[in-house]
Amino acid sequence: MVWEDGEGNLSSYLMDNRRMRTAIVSAMHEELAAVLALMPDEQKQPLAGRDFWVGHLHGHDVVAVLSRIGKVAAATTATALIERFEVDRIVFTGVAGGLAPGVEVGHVVVADGFMQHDLDASPIFPKYQVPLYGTDRFATDAKLTQQLDAAVRVALPGSRLHRGLVASGDRFVSTTGESRALQAALPEALAVEMEGAAVAQVCHDYGVPFAAVRTISDRADDEAHGDFLRFIQEVASRHSAAIVEAFLRGG
Ligand code: ADE
Repeated sequence: MVWEDGEGNLSSYLMDNRRMRTAIVSAMHEELAAVLALMPDEQKQPLAGRDFWVGHLHGHDVVAVLSRIGKVAAATTATALIERFEVDRIVFTGVAGGLAPGVEVGHVVVADGFMQHDLDASPIFPKYQVPLYGTDRFATDAKLTQQLDAAVRVALPGSRLHRGLVASGDRFVSTTGESRALQAALPEALAVEMEGAAVAQVCHDYGVPFAAVRTISDRADDEAHGDFLRFIQEVASRHSAAIVEAFLRGG
């Protein structure tokens, strides 16, 4: 349980007097390194083949970790964060391929929800539906997402910001043909990446608030590979550290 002040803001103390612990999950090494550079006292705690970095950032108790790549790896990371590190909320930063028209390289997407574009248990369940959940998407936490949205506006004032659905799958989408097919099948999806829906589902299962921001590194088309590599070297880490810093300063 978390205390709220009169204006609906989360206090940093939980009802059992333990301080709120925030997980910062990065998709790329470059992003994690930039977040660790902001932490004065991080201690490495290895678990499940991952390095979890426990420490502080702007007065918050923080656990920073790489998601690793793909849905299963990201689900394991999220589960370990909740079960072993007892985090109270998870914030994910990473890059994504732009899918919808107008979602271009350098733009930022704050996710309202996630679905899996490669999940298909039809005809037993409708295409995309997560079996036994009765839904094909998981919403992010409204309040945390609003805080993250506000942090992006502070950290990257000139950036074009989109809010909406992000599609995850265990594929790096790197052909114009596949990107067009995904756009046609999922016109609501703003961007495509490889982890978010898994973390969203784990957070749904445990009732842990989750928010995610993705900077667009490529258009998931025939040029995606080169654009992606250039982008993560030049921009991704700066974006992610600036967003995390603004997010934790803001609450
Ligand atoms: N992350 C960044 N770009 C991506 C793409 N094109 N496909 C999947 N994940 C991505």
